[in-house]
Amino acid sequence: MNDMPIRIAPSILACDFGALAREIADISAAGADWIHVDVMDGHFVPNLTIGPPVVAAVRAATEKPLDVHLMIEEPERSIADYVKAGADRVGVHVETCPHLHGTIGQIHNLGAKACVVLNPGTPAVAIESVIAEVEQVLVMSVNPGFGGQSFIESSLDKLRQIRAWADERNPALEIEIDGGIAKGTIGRAAAAGANAFVAGTAIFKAEPEDYPQAIAALREEAEAARRG
Ligand code: DX5
Ligand code: ZN
Repeated sequence: MNDMPIRIAPSILACDFGALAREIADISAAGADWIHVDVMDGHFVPNLTIGPPVVAAVRAATEKPLDVHLMIEEPERSIADYVKAGADRVGVHVETCPHLHGTIGQIHNLGAKACVVLNPGTPAVAIESVIAEVEQVLVMSVNPGFGGQSFIESSLDKLRQIRAWADERNPALEIEIDGGIAKGTIGRAAAAGANAFVAGTAIFKAEPEDYPQAIAALREEAEAARRG
């Protein structure tokens, strides 16, 4: 049973960084539920993006919850900086967290919601023992690092498995999917149990005046898939 609200979370990785504040304001007004912020360190993933000062600039440009996805090694060293900068939800990759349970506690002690993230090659069982401890799980449906990649189909099985565990042990869990989400994949991800959807290219490739329509089209497909 999946009755969690649908969340559309535009990934600003695909926005015009030269006009960051305007892009954030436009996407917020266009119906985004969360703003997804991709932090990459050039080590855990091959790309390098932004750090706490830019997260603070995003925070200043919107009232929407900031869904901060940390693709960085040793995230426990800088989680506090991201929460201070305005992160509401902090996602850490299980591949970077040998003391995952402790890192979740650290996020909670800082007053943020904890999200655990799985790479496409990491099995769902890696988060099974913390599923009742977290507010959110993020399933990567591309190898993290870049926008604009194709959706990896095996993510759907992973979503179904996590949905089943959540139904039993944590019905309020937000189950998010990230990578290659667009018309044609969002519905299948919703049917498999996701309720939160990150989309970069599918939203920001539109002209700013078309952002509302891009978000609405994704939401519609997710809702239709849920109705079955
Ligand atoms: C990839 C990032 C994604 C990315 C998604 O490492 O985590 O959030 O921006 O981009 P699209 O929607 O273009 O696949
Ligand atoms: Zn992301």
